[in-house]
Amino acid sequence: METLLEIKNLFIRFKSQKNIVYAVNDLSFSVYKKEILGIIGESGCGKTATCRSILRLNKSYEEKGSIQFEGREIFNLAPKTLNQNRGNKIAMIFQNPSSSLNPIIASVAKPSGKIF
Ligand SMILES: Nc1ncnc2c1ncn2[C@@H]1O[C@H](COP(=O)(O)OP(=O)(O)OP(=O)(O)O)[C@@H](O)[C@H]1O
Ligand SMILES: [Mg+2]
Repeated sequence: METLLEIKNLFIRFKSQKNIVYAVNDLSFSVYKKEILGIIGESGCGKTATCRSILRLNKSYEEKGSIQFEGREIFNLAPKTLNQNRGNKIAMIFQNPSSSLNPIIASVAKPSGKIF
């Protein structure tokens, strides 16, 4: 099977007012094309930070490792290419979607998927 996403040795650290938060420590996993992967873990274990890292949305103190999407290193992508991928090839439904998405727009979406 063809690998779509490959994360290797991902570390994410944030700086809080008092200390450094070790949000993700040495995480590695792969997702193959057409595969559905669920990530389960206790609150604060780094699920959201990991997903935000894939989209390069973290304003972290330190982020290191490798995230390859379709064989290209996300950490090396130019901002323009990143923006082309966001929402097009990789998208994220944020926590509390009712506050992130507009329920009125969703309710008038046509079956074709086009939103009017
Ligand atoms: N911007 C930030 N600044 C400082 N610490 C952060 C920041 N974002 C996340 N953290 C910390 O990083 C850790 C991982 O947070 P994350 O939101 O990824 O957890 P989660 O697994 O998604 O939790 P939940 O199940 O509650 O959504 C937590 O300790 C959190 O407090
Ligand atoms: Mg979360």
